[in-house]
Amino acid sequence: MKHLDFLKESFKNIRTTGAVARSSKYLVREMMQPIHFADAKIIVELGAGDGVLTIELLSRMAADARLLCFEINPEFCKILRGAIDDPRFVLIEDSAENLEQYLQEWGFEKADYIISAIPFIALPNELVYRIVSVCHKVLKNKGLFIQFHYSSFIQKMYRKFFDHVEVEFVPLNIPPAFVMICEKNS
Ligand SMILES: C[S@@+](CC[C@H](N)C(=O)[O-])C[C@H]1O[C@@H](n2cnc3c(N)ncnc32)[C@H](O)[C@@H]1O
Repeated sequence: MKHLDFLKESFKNIRTTGAVARSSKYLVREMMQPIHFADAKIIVELGAGDGVLTIELLSRMAADARLLCFEINPEFCKILRGAIDDPRFVLIEDSAENLEQYLQEWGFEKADYIISAIPFIALPNELVYRIVSVCHKVLKNKGLFIQFHYSSFIQKMYRKFFDHVEVEFVPLNIPPAFVMICEKNS
């Protein structure tokens, strides 16, 4: 998908897309940085868009790992289906709040990593809490929830759920972004 098409799709669905450009290579790199790919058997991606993070995840994942990808926008889902032909990739055209059900359907109890680009700032609080809460529940002990935002203010919310939260600033993105790396310790 071209940048202009991403922009058009974003404007059509600005409340759920919450971005004017896909993540830059610098932001993608920062999101990948905390992941130990050699040990990761099940990675979940929330809000895949046109797949900029998805493709990078697949290029680094082990051959026997699985990527469960959630995306609610049918246009983005069509693009992902056309662009990615990889047996490790499972596209779920449903909301991230239903993560636990799909994880079980695919035979997993817990996830190693959850990478999210869902624009929580633009969504209702109750929905955000439901999604973050289920992410915390299904992560394994020492698992990481990695999410980017355009403000660091929201880190307070993550500190209510997670034992350890680190924030990394990525200036080279439109707009500049903050990556929240949240660790579950229980
Ligand atoms: C900012 S875009 C991110 C696109 C891409 N991952 C990137 O980093 O450039 C956010 C995506 O989250 C999706 N999204 C929003 N709410 C969602 C939900 N409840 N469940 C799954 N995906 C959702 C939107 O449709 C959109 O594609």
